Amino acid sequence: MALREILKTSDNLETLRRISREVEVFDEKLFALLDDLTDTMLKANGVGLAAPQVGILRRAFVISLDGKDFYEFVNPKIIFEKGMQSDEEGCLSIPNQHAYVKRPRKVIIQAYDRHGEGFELTAYDRFAVAVCHEMDHLNGILYTDKIDTELTERMEKKLKNKRKVIEGTEVLTTSSEENAGASNARSNNKNNSSELSSKGEQT
Ligand code: CO
Repeated sequence: MALREILKTSDNLETLRRISREVEVFDEKLFALLDDLTDTMLKANGVGLAAPQVGILRRAFVISLDGKDFYEFVNPKIIFEKGMQSDEEGCLSIPNQHAYVKRPRKVIIQAYDRHGEGFELTAYDRFAVAVCHEMDHLNGILYTDKIDTELTERMEKKLKNKRKVIEGTEVLTTSSEENAGASNARSNNKNNSSELSSKGEQT
């Protein structure tokens, strides 16, 4: 097992834009690639990492939302999508950036494990986001191609307002309840997303 260098769009956009080929041989080389992807993802506090992100143009990626359950996907296909969600995403290949992206809420994915055994898996919510994000990497697509601009701008504005509320000490009584309620709602949101961030939101 070893750490591999994560390619960044700033230096390796051309590679990251290429379409990866199917894995044909399920051998030690593949095991090493998958192990390295997991190690590299964990080291970078990510929740997912795809082979092309370490310069290997093969259809394989790993995901772990919580650092406890680990998933490996080889030659994956999304065979079913349902619903819609818009959540914040980042990418280890595009450091220090986040934006909201529209994704299906539920996906069913067919793939192979490292031994060439086929399996089917249903992913919801953040797991579905991660699957779609990594799947896109195999096709040279980046989350920045799919940004929900309207929501991203709205959330950025909200964060700015929240900072103002925290910085300001004087608040009118009438609006303070409103502000308290609003900032509670916002801090709930923030807690959720910081929980995700602390576990590594970038994929
Ligand atoms: Co990514």
